[in-house]
Amino acid sequence: MSSNKNLSKISRLVGSIEIPGDKSISHRAVMFGSMAKGKTEISNFLMGADCLSTVSCFQKMGVEIQVEEKVVTVEGKGIDGLKEPSDILDVGNSGTTTRLMLGILSGTPIHACIIGDESIARRPMSRVTNPLRSMGASIDGRENGQYTPLSIRGGNLKGITYESPVASAQVKSAILLAGLRTNNEKTTVIEPHKSRDHTERMLRAFGVEVHEDETSATVIGGKELTATDIFVPGDISSAAFFLVAGAIVPNSEITLKNVGINPTRTGILDVLKMMGATIEIIQHDGQSFEPIADIIIKTSTLNGTIIGGDLIPKLIDEIPVIALLATQAEGETIIKDASELKVKETNRIDTVVSELTKLGANIKATDDGMIISGRTTLKGNATVSSHGDHRIGMMLAIAACIADEPIQLIDAKAIDVSYPTFFEHLAQLSK
Ligand code: S3P
Repeated sequence: MSSNKNLSKISRLVGSIEIPGDKSISHRAVMFGSMAKGKTEISNFLMGADCLSTVSCFQKMGVEIQVEEKVVTVEGKGIDGLKEPSDILDVGNSGTTTRLMLGILSGTPIHACIIGDESIARRPMSRVTNPLRSMGASIDGRENGQYTPLSIRGGNLKGITYESPVASAQVKSAILLAGLRTNNEKTTVIEPHKSRDHTERMLRAFGVEVHEDETSATVIGGKELTATDIFVPGDISSAAFFLVAGAIVPNSEITLKNVGINPTRTGILDVLKMMGATIEIIQHDGQSFEPIADIIIKTSTLNGTIIGGDLIPKLIDEIPVIALLATQAEGETIIKDASELKVKETNRIDTVVSELTKLGANIKATDDGMIISGRTTLKGNATVSSHGDHRIGMMLAIAACIADEPIQLIDAKAIDVSYPTFFEHLAQLSK
């Protein structure tokens, strides 16, 4: 699935685009809809490769799911309704599909095999397989269940209180979803910092009570999910590429419509403000289980900043494009406490530093992040690669908008994982 693109400087970006649906929320809507009783209609569904992997896995477990351009209808069969798949469940490049599905399958009395692509095969699964085993699931796989391929047989689960060493919504969600399958028992996940809370919010929309405090979430097992219609807000992680583009391409003004602004995801907005960007956030009225806004960004004069601690889980997926932003800020930007970057679709400390260095950025890797000194003119006339990582690909495509000379981007197709209309949107805004 290799594909290369030649990309050139853009003089300005002007106009308005509708950001495609949130990846995390789209996955969860299909999964929870599949476990619920009744029909769930999901609108503004993200038609990216990752979310389509989730659809295909649940179809293989007997759930009727219709996909029609951004509208997905799921005929939920109830919490016990999943059938044993006769085929392997292929998660493609999707960590969210792998980890959340492991949680769901842990409490389902069927056998399933999970495989994914080469990137998935490198990502640590013991962070979910270990706690799920301690709840009673039977899981095996490569290196004793640390990596895919994995095989799972669900069983009777008991509730646990799990103190996760990492702030990870995938870990938290997998355990809470398994917790729903216990017999009236309590399951609590405690994190070092709060991770995104889409599972907690959406479970409530499906009629399940979730108790939350600062850094913990608790469910009681044995409750049925009731189908509900879901509108998926635009993905702030996708919006981030155009927020940065708007701030660094000269004479630009971009409006991004219908962007999800869940406070556990808005670290990129905090960073843009901290760095001095001209940004306006217009929150929509009305009730939804996730807050939504239109965001206007203009070309900005930027200063370096320090990004770490609690802020990291709120912007973990935006760090590649924040690194690019920092190359255009006056002074030093330090990104720390972000060693989770090493276990994303690629080791994003390595891939960000190696590819931005090729463009002339002053950036160096640290143990838990990176340090960028600005402001540097990106020179272009280079061949860079997404390394099969959608967010590295999009960051480099935005870098090409300001580089002096054209850039060749290897494996641009990786971008389809989360933003299949990315290049159309870029062309639409380019003036
Ligand atoms: C996600 C959680 C995050 C994020 C990923 C999506 C989710 O991963 O990086 O893109 O949908 O729960 P971690 O849970 O590993 O931090």
